[in-house]
Amino acid sequence: KLRFFPDKKVGILGAGVGGLYTALILDSLGIEFEILEASDRVGGRLSTYNFPDGKKYDYYDAGAMRYPLPKKDEQGQYKNGIMKRLAELIVSLGLEDKLITYYFGARENPGDESGFYYFNGIRRRISDTPELLESCVTGVDPSYIKAGTGNITLDVVKPFARMLIRDITRGTRRGWEAMMANDSYSVRAYMSFKYMPSVHLELPPEHLPTKVVSWCEHMEQSTKSFDRALTEEVFESLAFDAVHNEGLDEVDWKCFDGGSEVLPKKMAEVINEPRKNRIHFGKRVTAIRQSDLIIEIPVEFPRDKLPSGVNETEIPSDSTGLIPDGSQIIDGCFPPKKIIIPGAGVEVSVGNDDSRTYSHVISTLPLPVLRTIDMKDAGMTVQQRNALRNLQYGPSIKIAVQFEEPWWTTKLNIVGGQTYTDLPIRTIVYPSYGVDSDTPSTVLIASYCWTTDAERLGSLALPENKAMLEDLVLRNLAEAHGNGITYKFLRGQFRAMDVKDWSHDVQTMGAFAHFGPGDFQDLFTSLTFPAANKRLHFAGEAISTRHAWVVGALDSAWRAVLEYLLVTGQKDKLARFKELWGKNVEWASPPAQFKDDQAALIDEHLGLIQRAI
Ligand code: PHE
Repeated sequence: KLRFFPDKKVGILGAGVGGLYTALILDSLGIEFEILEASDRVGGRLSTYNFPDGKKYDYYDAGAMRYPLPKKDEQGQYKNGIMKRLAELIVSLGLEDKLITYYFGARENPGDESGFYYFNGIRRRISDTPELLESCVTGVDPSYIKAGTGNITLDVVKPFARMLIRDITRGTRRGWEAMMANDSYSVRAYMSFKYMPSVHLELPPEHLPTKVVSWCEHMEQSTKSFDRALTEEVFESLAFDAVHNEGLDEVDWKCFDGGSEVLPKKMAEVINEPRKNRIHFGKRVTAIRQSDLIIEIPVEFPRDKLPSGVNETEIPSDSTGLIPDGSQIIDGCFPPKKIIIPGAGVEVSVGNDDSRTYSHVISTLPLPVLRTIDMKDAGMTVQQRNALRNLQYGPSIKIAVQFEEPWWTTKLNIVGGQTYTDLPIRTIVYPSYGVDSDTPSTVLIASYCWTTDAERLGSLALPENKAMLEDLVLRNLAEAHGNGITYKFLRGQFRAMDVKDWSHDVQTMGAFAHFGPGDFQDLFTSLTFPAANKRLHFAGEAISTRHAWVVGALDSAWRAVLEYLLVTGQKDKLARFKELWGKNVEWASPPAQFKDDQAALIDEHLGLIQRAI
């Protein structure tokens, strides 16, 4: 008794890069959609701040700023790699000429110098680090000092990272399984109770002493980040450390000339052509609930062709949905103008008095924000509700200062790269953009912090504390740099400061997902399954294994659209989707199966996704 009807629009929540990518995919498949965005801009956590009265390069990226893209082969095609999807998106949008080198380490032209390590009051250029900072740990076997924190930390994550890469290159799942078997560990617990050092490091053959664990975190990571999941540390290493073999990790670090906002703005431009009204701003979602779907049938039929009963009405259109049993006609005329289908919609309330019903909704909202929305009637499983409550986000803060001149270059010969310190500002990021222009950037990211470091500086980010923060930042900058860069000098150079604390942005309520021990195993997997009778799909960087990267948002959008296509049984579009949007390196190794009363459903779902890719 199933008959076709024209499907209603898909609602996309959020016009960040995940929502925009979802829209691009749907658009390419000829599926109708609209985007609801709470703010008045696109881009979400791709956000470029231009200092007022600044020159061309006097900006900084308050959110995503750097992209480790795969290298290209001889034919100029991007090689396989974790961020390939992003590289392909950039190419397809014609934005490749906006990509410029991001100096993750400082530039190394003749005369250039690196930034500093400044820990425990000892300052060294990064380029002379071998004898670094021995004094930071005492009372441990000297072999630990000889091995060094970098090598020890890498040795912890490397076996997992290599297996995960092998999953991608060989289509296995062993890496993911090994990772999940250890997901209950924090980095710290794993190092203290399970990890055994590799023989080549010549360390005592035992788990690491607490002192050594703390020392590794102190030197290598943001404060207290070793309390988060081991899995996060491994994933982070996959993105940052080019040491995991198989060629996949060879990357070219890039950023956008003009700032990261170039990307979402271009995406929005494509989405809004030729119709101008598919992204709706100022639409804060307040509730999501399962609802009946009312369909208006647009096709008029000649009366003589109409069969006698509505149940047998055939509606010839290129429509995709199905009219299930139990549907009713609500205006009673022939041909039926309106049909009500029980449970076939998702109703989204916007503000207090606007509501829209979609056949499916793809939410790309950050999970802390989604949790503030009334979802009691959204048909969520217990695990999904728990996931919204528990999945941990990380705080992150950037403090940018605009100076009179780029003194880090003019006085210290530093071009790009970072300085690392144990002072409150923790990491300083020198601009990579505009370095060869006549008007180099005078904006410095004076502090980029995660975890506890970000929480603490975040306390000073309120406008009333700005003077205090400004003072702290300038004092820290002077101390970390030395070499004549005094507080007084910096005061004279100071023009303006801008602070971005993502934990206190109402649109995000956290900078990016940074899961705690055990979070990946089942809470995460519960959200790779739709709610609301398989009509509400979850996407966004948090629902990916590439937290805190644009590609995570893209991969998750890919998965959400695939889910939607599978659920609605749109076979032709599914084939087209695979052709246009490729496979997903992430879902080559899908999350471990979810064990609970929904296990069978979810196994079936994961099976579908695996077969589909
Ligand atoms: N991608 C971000 C960066 O380049 C943030 C990030 C934080 C990524 C932690 C991984 C881990 O800094």
